Amino acid sequence: MTNTIETKGLTKRFGDLVAVDDLDLSIESGEVYGLLGPNGAGKTTVIRLLVGLSRPNEGSMTIFDRPAGHEDLSQRMGYMPQEEALYDMLTVDENLDLYGRLFALSPEDLERRKNETLNFVALEGRRRDLVYTLSGGMRHRVSLAIALLHEPEILFLDEPTVGVDPELRVSFWENFGKLKTSGKTVVITTHYMDEARNCDRIGLMHHGKLIAEGTPKEVIAMAGASDLEEAFLKIAYPKGRRDGP
Ligand SMILES: Nc1ncnc2c1ncn2[C@@H]1O[C@H](COP(=O)(O)OP(=O)(O)O)[C@@H](O)[C@H]1O
Ligand SMILES: [Mg+2]
Repeated sequence: MTNTIETKGLTKRFGDLVAVDDLDLSIESGEVYGLLGPNGAGKTTVIRLLVGLSRPNEGSMTIFDRPAGHEDLSQRMGYMPQEEALYDMLTVDENLDLYGRLFALSPEDLERRKNETLNFVALEGRRRDLVYTLSGGMRHRVSLAIALLHEPEILFLDEPTVGVDPELRVSFWENFGKLKTSGKTVVITTHYMDEARNCDRIGLMHHGKLIAEGTPKEVIAMAGASDLEEAFLKIAYPKGRRDGP
């Protein structure tokens, strides 16, 4: 196994606030890695740093042995932001066309990838619908199709299941499993602790720090807890002490 993503001492401050605090991450190729933590833990900030949208104050980060943000990486990474970036007044098809051009796909490749990705997220029937007519879950699926369009090797999915109803969440996780099967590395953030049991490994984040890491089973065992929710609380607030919100 090779490490696809490495960070060392990664730190990002916003004024006095340390949003990401001395983070060492090492994510292997072909893993589904979950960054887990409550709102404000720093998950989105980590993802934005890794995809090159933000620069760290300290530390290093490499993806495929190149510094994060390097131009060679953009074709190899897909990013599904927490706040989806869709054009409401365009159809699903037209949204994919725009992103396809952004990634310089040839017309033939674009057509093929549109078919494949819309099939993957089960939205072929909605291709010609304006995005604003779609439900929240469908919008998320369009956003996922866009992240996959240029066949990236790594996917960064920032809270892809927020606002998605429980049934659909199950199908989302099936999709992520399929991505792994096709050899992709998937980094996914969520504050739904229970979902993370589907990841190969998870990192628990709290106040910008990684407070535990391992397989979901290992983390649960480490904390002497019965599920991930309880494990997080036990590790984040030892002896019931609450030192923050
Ligand atoms: N651009 C920004 N300017 C100032 N503070 C920010 C900015 N982005 C994030 N933060 C703060 O950094 C912390 C971590 O935020 P974020 O990474 O969005 O957490 P999460 O995704 O885990 O909810 C929060 O306290 C948030 O308010
Ligand atoms: Mg976030």
